[in-house]
Amino acid sequence: MPRKKKFKALSGMRDIMPDEQPFWKKVEMVCEAMAFFYDFKKITTPIIEEEDLFVKGTGATTDIVEKQMYSFKTKGGEKVVLRPEFTPSLVRVYIEKGLEGQPKPVKVWTLGPLFRYERPQKGRYRQFHQFDFEIFGDKSPASDALMIQLFANLLENLGLKNWEIEVNSIGCKECRSGYKRKLKSFLKANQRKLCADCKKRLQKNPLRVLDCKEEKCQRVKKLAPKITEYLCEECQKHYEKLIGYLKEMNLPFVENPYLVRGLDYYTRTVFEFVPAEKKEKRQTALIGGGRYDYLVEELGGKATPAVGGAGGIERIIEEMKEKKVNLVKIQISEDKFLEKPKVFLLHLGDLAKRKCFSLIEEFKKAKIKVRQNVAKDRLKAQLKWASRLNADYTLILGEKEAKEGTIILRDMKTGIQKIIPLKKVVSEVKKIMKKR
Ligand code: HAM
Repeated sequence: MPRKKKFKALSGMRDIMPDEQPFWKKVEMVCEAMAFFYDFKKITTPIIEEEDLFVKGTGATTDIVEKQMYSFKTKGGEKVVLRPEFTPSLVRVYIEKGLEGQPKPVKVWTLGPLFRYERPQKGRYRQFHQFDFEIFGDKSPASDALMIQLFANLLENLGLKNWEIEVNSIGCKECRSGYKRKLKSFLKANQRKLCADCKKRLQKNPLRVLDCKEEKCQRVKKLAPKITEYLCEECQKHYEKLIGYLKEMNLPFVENPYLVRGLDYYTRTVFEFVPAEKKEKRQTALIGGGRYDYLVEELGGKATPAVGGAGGIERIIEEMKEKKVNLVKIQISEDKFLEKPKVFLLHLGDLAKRKCFSLIEEFKKAKIKVRQNVAKDRLKAQLKWASRLNADYTLILGEKEAKEGTIILRDMKTGIQKIIPLKKVVSEVKKIMKKR
């Protein structure tokens, strides 16, 4: 009798067995709680998309598009792919489903499987999962900071503490082209020392060489010109403000002038969350993201600045296992937040805005949902947002209050307001919440 074939999962594809399921559940639960606290709406997109969406979106010269897409022709002759990332899909939805017409910023998130035909190894699979958060319609660095704060919170709530955020600015179209020329001539002079792939990259997309993990290319990279020295005034200001916000939030970050990331759409901010003790190793970023101010327009929408990021769930779960995270202790879920009556946090001026980030963090720790719109600076725009939300109370942090360490609490129905010390604001709001 012929021996029957024993089937195996395809290379780079994993079965998620019962003992791992509780980890998946916790990751999903914490994502949902973060989405709830920071006001992101969930969208689920199809796994198969038109190939062109990623060729134009992710970028024709990226490794993902050049080497890693699962692409095929359908019986009807359409060229389709199993999605390799979420960002172009969410941009497509943003344009196609009329989200462009909604008040800005529009904040969306998603979670699910993705496919990249990579060489499988620990932390790198052909089918893997991400959670992904995106903010459309705000060009200010406040949204970049909020995005980073959300991810930091997410990891902390999953019991992961020992990580570092690498940040950089890769400028806009204008300042980057000057830098690219400088980089190209430096790399040409050092061509002999580069790997075969980078010799090709050097011609088509020199920035990609900075992203190569080959040791010899890493050595060349260490001497390469730094993009941060070529930023135009606007990009420089944007970057400095972001760094100011990150400092205010006390987040563990380092500036890495060579961080470029392997996707073509980024402008200005790029960031990665890396486990502190694995910084030098390959394939270790838990979360990666950045700003992409041209992509919506390039995919056929109105010019819309945007920023976002995504985390690799398999890598995060591996990290949780290594660190022996106690799953029982992860208790954060959206229904644990106090949210009624509705409180809106309003800021006026630079100092107040910076302080706003630590306040948001304090409210989150106290599990109180406080709404805000750090994307807007003008009082009128923020008040409009507060009234659209039907806020019962507003907390007003002006320049004067921020300097004095106070804040105004205003009852929106009676118009009565009182000044309270900033240190006591969380407990005051908690009292109001509990009274109702
Ligand atoms: P990415 O850096 O390609 O960015 O992926 C984000 C995260 O997904 C990585 O940091 C890693 O944890 C995980 N990941 C990527 N590839 C694999 C793999 N083959 N196996 C396991 N995990 C993997 C993006 O995908 C962008 N769309 C992020 C973004 C959103 N930027 C702006 N908005």
